[in-house]
Amino acid sequence: MYLNHIVEAIGNTPLVKLNNVTDGIKGTILAKVEYFNPGNSVKDRMALKMIEDAEKAGLLKPGGTIIEGTSGNTGMGLALAAIAKGYKCIFTMSDKQSKEKQDILRAVGAEVIVCPTNVAPDDPRSYYSVARKLNQEIPNSIYPNQYDNPSNSAAHYETTGPELWQQTEGKITHYAAGVGTGGTICGTAKYLKEQNPNIVTVGLDTYGSVFKKYKETGIFDENEIYPYKTEGIGEDILPKNVNFDLIDLFIKVSDKDAALMTRRLAKEEGLFVGWSCGSAVYGALEYAKEHLKEDDTMVIVLPDHGTRYLGKIYNDDWMREQGWL
Ligand SMILES: Cc1ncc(COP(=O)(O)O)c(C=O)c1O
Repeated sequence: MYLNHIVEAIGNTPLVKLNNVTDGIKGTILAKVEYFNPGNSVKDRMALKMIEDAEKAGLLKPGGTIIEGTSGNTGMGLALAAIAKGYKCIFTMSDKQSKEKQDILRAVGAEVIVCPTNVAPDDPRSYYSVARKLNQEIPNSIYPNQYDNPSNSAAHYETTGPELWQQTEGKITHYAAGVGTGGTICGTAKYLKEQNPNIVTVGLDTYGSVFKKYKETGIFDENEIYPYKTEGIGEDILPKNVNFDLIDLFIKVSDKDAALMTRRLAKEEGLFVGWSCGSAVYGALEYAKEHLKEDDTMVIVLPDHGTRYLGKIYNDDWMREQGWL
């Protein structure tokens, strides 16, 4: 028995009980460990789906180029799918992302263009604008735009949601995930709420992002926006993949609390995971401490692997420079 290509290994990741960071919490806390995907992140699921849907729609033709703005993980998923299917990749990335993420994408054959972080999304230098411009200039290219592409949420509706329902044998009562494009949380939540409308979904946000205030007040408040360090979650835009009706509440987690929890997950659970995993677990457990009952089962999504953060949160010198150790 073998797979015809590595992309066939995407999905069906393990669900693992958290045992040591959950002191004082009633109920069962389970982690969906997405680094088991071949690109080491949850984003493999939607990257493959965006490409396959673009092929079906006739938008992507043989020899085509895939252009995307990505914090790295979507790029990895797109790159693997592009290798399987014979496409070229060009990725734009903001300069706050780990150097490792750029190198990893170049290793799998992509061209990477680094853009400044601290400019407005509609500034021509932003990684959104550069991707859009390249798409206009390069013939036979597509810009999947993970923020607004419905294939992103659909991938999770079709795979992550059913996996969690089956793995928990329908016992899941709470579902928590970080929110970047919104694809993971909303696609999965849509499926889960169709099975059981009482399932509570908790979205994890960062300080410096617009989501929480928008959910609570309906106001897109530019004053909420400032630079933060956590990679992959929180936004200064409202992506179409974020369906606020499917997210019951948001909790904001600081860069420091997320970093320290990520290191605990590695040391105390043996889960060598990425920075936004600490955000997800820290925030979800804050909620769980107050609201979870003995019979409840909460699933928290852990999006990616720790190797991408060796130069940052897993580096003691870097942590000391931040004043976090
Ligand atoms: C490390 C990491 N965590 C969390 C997320 C958020 O997932 P989503 O975009 O599906 O909301 C991303 C997405 O870029 C990510 O790269």
